[in-house]
Amino acid sequence: MLSADLMKRPLIAVLNGPNLNMLGLRQPDVYGHATLDDVEQICIQAAERLDVAIDFRQTNGEGELVSWVQECRGRANGIVINPAAYTHTSIALLDALYAVELPVIEIHISNIHRREEFRHHSYVSQVARGVICGLGVRGYAHALQAMADIIEDEG
Ligand code: DQA
Repeated sequence: MLSADLMKRPLIAVLNGPNLNMLGLRQPDVYGHATLDDVEQICIQAAERLDVAIDFRQTNGEGELVSWVQECRGRANGIVINPAAYTHTSIALLDALYAVELPVIEIHISNIHRREEFRHHSYVSQVARGVICGLGVRGYAHALQAMADIIEDEG
């Protein structure tokens, strides 16, 4: 029989920033009609398929997001993050992501490069292994697949 440790699945934190709780209501022409609950379901299904565990969260607060990133150190195996507007503004978030020393994948529902110029720069991209943007909410499943591959490759 496998020991509990051997059976333990890798943990991927899926962190979401401000206004993503408004998905479904918020600018559906840009973000589509799926709600944050729908996004969580997509992630749960992807995680089952990939045999990983997820911790899915959303906050509107920059400080809370930074604290959640810090909590991942020594606990999670990787971070998938949609930092929303903090992507473009938060050095605090960038510093926290460096500090945890975990693989990071940045995800955006919309294609930020087709939008206003202020969205073209991402602080988070400096620490991210990869960025998925413009593929809608299905992009979360791609991000989880990529993170599971990184964790498997790097043990
Ligand atoms: C977003 C893109 C950001 O520019 C924006 O501030 C968001 C959502 C996206 O998922 O497309 O809130 O991260």
